[in-house]
Amino acid sequence: MDAIRNFFRAAWSSAERLEGKTVVITGANTGIGKETAIDLAKRGAKVILACRDIDKAQAATKEVIESSGNENVVCMKLDLADGKSIRGFAESINKDEPRLDILINNAGVMVCPYGKTADGFEMQIGVNHLGHFLLTYLLIDLIKKSTPARIVNVSSMAHSFGSINLDDLNSEKSYDKNKAYAQSKLANVLFTRSLAKRLEGTGVTTYSLHPGVIKTDLWRHLNGPQQFLWKMASPFIKNSAQGAQTTIYCAVEPSLANESGGYYSDCAPANCSAAGKDEEVAQKLWELSCRMLSITWE
Ligand SMILES: NC(=O)c1ccc[n+]([C@@H]2O[C@H](COP(=O)([O-])OP(=O)(O)OC[C@H]3O[C@@H](n4cnc5c(N)ncnc54)[C@H](OP(=O)(O)O)[C@@H]3O)[C@@H](O)[C@H]2O)c1
Repeated sequence: MDAIRNFFRAAWSSAERLEGKTVVITGANTGIGKETAIDLAKRGAKVILACRDIDKAQAATKEVIESSGNENVVCMKLDLADGKSIRGFAESINKDEPRLDILINNAGVMVCPYGKTADGFEMQIGVNHLGHFLLTYLLIDLIKKSTPARIVNVSSMAHSFGSINLDDLNSEKSYDKNKAYAQSKLANVLFTRSLAKRLEGTGVTTYSLHPGVIKTDLWRHLNGPQQFLWKMASPFIKNSAQGAQTTIYCAVEPSLANESGGYYSDCAPANCSAAGKDEEVAQKLWELSCRMLSITWE
């Protein structure tokens, strides 16, 4: 229904400016993250590209500066598959940045073969959910000092196929790469809801979103037949600049200033799955994430 309604709506655009504001975007060296960086830099923000590969990040930073005409764009090393790297990144931001107005948790891995992060978490839940959970926890005080501020979590419609396996979040008993991706994207939706509840009245608002089906490097782990189907469908699939629009909408749209915890698609509010609204699972996931990361976040 959302998709049909949105098909007939005019494309979203906004002249909102971001001078004096600072934005962190994870996984901004390519795909949706890089296009988001270009757009927010054009609006005048200081943009920090938080990326795991510093060579790729430097090349992307140059491109963002050239495309936006904004020199106030930098990159920093952040590997979300390594708690030490996340802590180091957050420490530098907290020390050097007087404010953080918009945090965009965009980085992601999809349907990769079984692997573990440096801290022993299954790679998809580790990077897509736990890494961003820890990052947000470490930056939350700075974000609270920069209100009105926003936290945007890039999820996926794939969350609808997911469930949270509280007994085996790391898929150690059995690993299905599709289920693990869907679980991690559902975790993004639930984290956004839980975070909104905890941040009520602080001036920090949260958003999760589906960016669309977008031609990016994310699809690198598809198998042979899937790659073939993907190639056949690719003329009908959106490019990264189109794919960045809902992220940008959640980051800047003035009418969303008083909304928090919701899910968006095609630059509009959208319905997430019933599992994405399950307060009990959201609370249990929050507690489990804290235990796994050895942090206290009430
Ligand atoms: N493309 C789609 O159709 C689609 C659909 C629904 C949702 N999404 C979501 O959109 C977001 C962006 O994806 P995309 O399509 O733009 O994919 P992409 O082009 O593959 O970009 C993903 C970014 O995440 C980074 N990343 C991966 N692992 C990381 C780690 N351990 N630490 C830090 N960064 C890491 C990648 O870095 P490297 O370049 O170094 O690998 C890359 O910069 C993801 O959260 C994805 O789940 C995408």
